[in-house]
Amino acid sequence: MSRIFSGIQPSGELHIGNYLGAVKNWVALQAQYESYFCVVDLHAITAAYAPDDLRRRTREMAASLLAAGLDPERCTLFVQSRVPEHTELQWIFNTVAPLGELERQTQFKEKRERQEQVMAGLLNYPVLQAADILLYLADSVPVGEDQVQHLELSRVIARNWNARFSPEGHPYFPEPQAKLTPTRRIVGLDGNAKMSKSLNNTIGLLETPDEIWAKLRPAVTDPARIKKSDPGNPDKCAVIFGLHQAFSPPAVVAEVDAKCRSAGWGCIDCKKVLFEHMNVELTPIRTRAQTFAEQPSLVDEALDAGAEKARVVAGRTMAHVKERMGLA
Ligand code: AMP
Ligand code: TRP
Repeated sequence: MSRIFSGIQPSGELHIGNYLGAVKNWVALQAQYESYFCVVDLHAITAAYAPDDLRRRTREMAASLLAAGLDPERCTLFVQSRVPEHTELQWIFNTVAPLGELERQTQFKEKRERQEQVMAGLLNYPVLQAADILLYLADSVPVGEDQVQHLELSRVIARNWNARFSPEGHPYFPEPQAKLTPTRRIVGLDGNAKMSKSLNNTIGLLETPDEIWAKLRPAVTDPARIKKSDPGNPDKCAVIFGLHQAFSPPAVVAEVDAKCRSAGWGCIDCKKVLFEHMNVELTPIRTRAQTFAEQPSLVDEALDAGAEKARVVAGRTMAHVKERMGLA
């Protein structure tokens, strides 16, 4: 069975953009692959943060992932800093990661512009990401398109290490490939950009039905549709029609399309149907989240067990790596 690894930054509660764009896919993949999913708190400290806040966001993200359907019986879910082998392998990979390639990473170039003083951790961020993946000898990484360049670098690192420390023709590390998630980008409530925590245009995965309705009701639709009797164009209704495509069954999406174009439904009618289908998917997630909120020890236990499972694999990889490098 091939192994997959993916990571997510501890940004607190999931929103429906990163749920639909990434985590929902992880939930499906855990049944088919040996899967490792990691809350990457060590990556998060490359940006300014408050320690108590990070602690809270890490737990919230783990609880959201469990509520979304990651099942500790089927996958290994853990927090990165609990498995010290990540930083150990990261140092080793620094010795085979070409500086020029690090400096060429788009994300680094964008982020460095926003800093007064650029720290080495920002540059080395993708080296830690390579260590995350390769510690588990994962060959497939379910991520969004923005991570493709980081994965190319993971392959360079694997190749360089293999060239020095693996026997000819028997590479120790696989060269991991991106497994692009099928869900297109989810547009934020403002209709202008992708749904993103930093843009304040999100619907939280665990928001109550009332909170969700309060956000859907005023959300932008086709701007050309002013009166209920005006026919609309679903292709111009990125937010609401986009959410229908994500949450409503295909027959309902077809009905929405027809009723919008013929002005058979007003936008509020259409939003009510969406709201119903969102609730069908989100209610069980909220129910599970409620259980975790009432019994936080369930989250702790899952994370303890996840770290323990991860450390067994990570320790084995490190023993092989050190042996081959003359470090043991
Ligand atoms: P982030 O929350 O930005 O760290 O992203 C975590 C994962 O969710 C990445 O794989 C992203 O590609 C994906 N993602 C984040 N926001 C969206 C969005 N609005 N639509 C689709 N996918 C998203
Ligand atoms: N850099 C990724 C992001 O910002 C998070 C991440 C860290 C990751 N380590 C990883 C993703 C390993 C996939 C595999 O989304």
